[in-house]
Amino acid sequence: MRILLLCHAFNSLTQRLFVELRERGHPVSVEFDINDAVTREALALFRPDVVVASFLKRRIPEDVWQTVPCLVVHPGPLGDRGPSALDWAILDGAKTWGVTVLQADAALDGGAVWQTACFPMRPATKGSLYRHEVTEAAVAAVLEALTRLATGDRPTPLAMLLPPDGHSRWRPQMRRADRAIDWSRDDTATVLCKLRSGDGNPGVLDAVDDHPVELFDGHPATGRSGPPGTLIARSGEAVCRATVDGAVWIGRMRQPATVDDHPLTLPKLKLPSVQVLERLLGVATVASLPDATDDGPPDLWYQERDGVGFLHFPFYNGALGTARGQRLLAALRVAQQRDTKVLVLMGGPDFWCNGIDLNGIEAASSPADESWRAINAIDDVAAALITTPRQLTVAALTGNAGAGGLFLALAADLVWARTGVVLNPHYKGMGNLYGSEYWTYLLPRRCGADRARLLTEARHPMGTAEALRLGLIDDAFGTDQARFRHAVAERATALAHDSKLATLLASKQQLRVRDEATKPLAAYRTEELAQMKLNFYGFDPSYHVARYNFVFKIPKSRTPLYLARHRQSAVPDLGQA
Ligand code: COA
Repeated sequence: MRILLLCHAFNSLTQRLFVELRERGHPVSVEFDINDAVTREALALFRPDVVVASFLKRRIPEDVWQTVPCLVVHPGPLGDRGPSALDWAILDGAKTWGVTVLQADAALDGGAVWQTACFPMRPATKGSLYRHEVTEAAVAAVLEALTRLATGDRPTPLAMLLPPDGHSRWRPQMRRADRAIDWSRDDTATVLCKLRSGDGNPGVLDAVDDHPVELFDGHPATGRSGPPGTLIARSGEAVCRATVDGAVWIGRMRQPATVDDHPLTLPKLKLPSVQVLERLLGVATVASLPDATDDGPPDLWYQERDGVGFLHFPFYNGALGTARGQRLLAALRVAQQRDTKVLVLMGGPDFWCNGIDLNGIEAASSPADESWRAINAIDDVAAALITTPRQLTVAALTGNAGAGGLFLALAADLVWARTGVVLNPHYKGMGNLYGSEYWTYLLPRRCGADRARLLTEARHPMGTAEALRLGLIDDAFGTDQARFRHAVAERATALAHDSKLATLLASKQQLRVRDEATKPLAAYRTEELAQMKLNFYGFDPSYHVARYNFVFKIPKSRTPLYLARHRQSAVPDLGQA
């Protein structure tokens, strides 16, 4: 089937569908929902058998859904309708939720049903639920719907599927007021629920000393209390705020772009809470908060079990800033000194890593200088990982990884991924960024020089099946987070006790010596950083423009040609099944 993915943006779910559909041999193209004329043009150029609308913010034009079947993915169960489905589910404390694939028609989210799937809810942010439960359910439902469509089946009218006394329920767009925190009344559970319903976007609009701020990245604080609503401590990047029955840690804040339609002068950028409050309240005020360094929400920790070390680094959005990179390096060095045989780098549950922290860079007084510091910090981690002397290292990807974050994973001896993970092994989308993290050594080492060049040029997301075929990863297993983590622990432990481990470690060391003799690691770094210097400080501003557009979420005015295959005839196709 020729499948057109129509989407507001090429988000994680759309990337995953792109990967899964191509894997099954379907010709797939992508068009961003920019305006009706562009959508019609895409239809004329690509002549799809079906349109899959994975992530839309408005209706599909009537003449489009009259012409070709349009399958709309709604992140809600049967009968649920409206644009803030998951936000309401979290705020309402739903125990189960679902995804429904509907045929587009005149009623928004009210068309006939192709498929629906349910899942138990987890106490997690909207973004995390979307990247895991919603994505897995949506992929299964879309694939089943397409199978039915291909056999000439028809969707079932919604009314026939609802119980006799049931009806569909339209829930409006969630407003800021719906999740506003009342610090004088809300208990910790309620505050966390509100924060989770708005995370990653749009956050919860609140105020600190009359300064409007949006709040993100909430965590329960144990054993802390104070006058409700007051700031009572800081730890790392987070601040602690008291509720009526305890307190919460808030890791990220953002100043709203407008409040009551008054534009603010400072940029709208999600940043560590401490950094935002230092700007708003002054460094001295934030410094005067009691320091609770060991007590805050953990973003870097090490565990050891049965000869295996596990290093976790669930940095917010997988972004590795300079300081986070330096902390990770220090933790890695400590882990390397331990008497273990295998060291597993776990990253975080939602993202393993997405490379240098572009928000932190944008907020810096010199983005070029901060880019330079950040890339050197992540390069230091990659170098330490590549040269790990005594342990076999494993990168275990529960969540997605992109750009330098993925190449950092390739610095480990073995790469294992959860089957549903999406990988983006390229930098070029960020204003033709050259990239570092020793990718010029690591990528050809795994898949050969020609494929490495094609991969970085193609700029496509990649699923684990393709990554396995290309040798980019060593294994993929575990459909959900819990199963994957369990299997990682089992496999790592088995490896640590494997009689062949000594041989594996010896050959790893020999390979490193041989590679170093052929071309020293330092030479790869020097060459990559020479290119990066041009990206950061050179005449061509593309990286700075692309980064600005990315962090401020400037909508795209056209679909990139590497995705809109119908607009470009000869796009190299790599590794498709
Ligand atoms: N630095 C800071 N924030 C980052 C980031 C980075 N390197 N990568 C992703 N994020 C943030 C996004 O801004 C978004 O923030 P939000 O919570 O405010 O919405 C969030 O992480 C999720 O990213 P999103 O782009 O929505 O996820 P996705 O699954 O659709 O796409 C990527 C994943 C990796 C393709 C995409 O995030 C990306 O291109 N990131 C930049 C990678 C990069 O160029 N890194 C620098 C070079 S090493």
